[in-house]
Amino acid sequence: MTTFVSPAAPEHVAIIMDGNGRWANERGMPRTFGHKQGMESLHSVVRTAGDIGIKYLTLFAFSSENWRRPETEIIDLFGLLKTFVRRDLADLHARNVRVRVIGERSNLKSDILGLLIEAEEKTKNNSGMTLVIAFNYGARDEITRAVASLVRDVQAGLLPASAITDDAISARLDTAGIPDPDVIIRTSGEERLSNFLLWQAAYSELIFVPEYWPDFGKENFLAALSQYSSRNRRFGGLKPAASVAGS
Ligand code: FPP
Repeated sequence: MTTFVSPAAPEHVAIIMDGNGRWANERGMPRTFGHKQGMESLHSVVRTAGDIGIKYLTLFAFSSENWRRPETEIIDLFGLLKTFVRRDLADLHARNVRVRVIGERSNLKSDILGLLIEAEEKTKNNSGMTLVIAFNYGARDEITRAVASLVRDVQAGLLPASAITDDAISARLDTAGIPDPDVIIRTSGEERLSNFLLWQAAYSELIFVPEYWPDFGKENFLAALSQYSSRNRRFGGLKPAASVAGS
């Protein structure tokens, strides 16, 4: 007899949106065209995630290593973020989405910083999905900033050294208060984390899909989530924390 147990839906999905450049190159187009097309996938995934009740969706939009790209491409990516906030903020707000931005802010220009703060402020009381935008984000940088801030407090005598714990570090990461991702999806066939959520990914399921990000639509997203729901998560123990179907 087959028993059906509902697939455990992930609470937090994180995505490395990779392959925009290759998608464009294969079409004889500039890389910026790939990023523009990638915005379409972004819209579709944000909408779908909200519709199916995902509580947290984190998107890797610009890494601290992306500064190594040509200036024109950097300007383009910053432009897309600005357009996204300017055009889509009202819609996200109307759909009760809360926006949170993670990453280093100190080297961002005031116009972009202002927009990011505006997005967070306007939506901070929303109770629907939290859309986490990782912008100018690198996990090693994030962990270093968190540990440095703890050490500063210890040196100032505000905390004992014994206060440097796993939980204390988590509480000082940019993602403080956000549960660790259940699943991290990376598009384009590359199979690595590329300095994304390294601390938070300790027990995340990793799903690598071959599609380039501009080709990643609703169906691909749902298929990846279905792949996630067939995994057994044991968190270092012996029993699955959530199983999908038994027979
Ligand atoms: C990776 O593709 C993608 C990025 C570095 C940026 C992702 C950005 C977007 C989808 C649009 C911008 C979104 C916001 C919210 C700003 P790649 O360029 O590394 O592709 P490649 O590996 O094929 O070269």
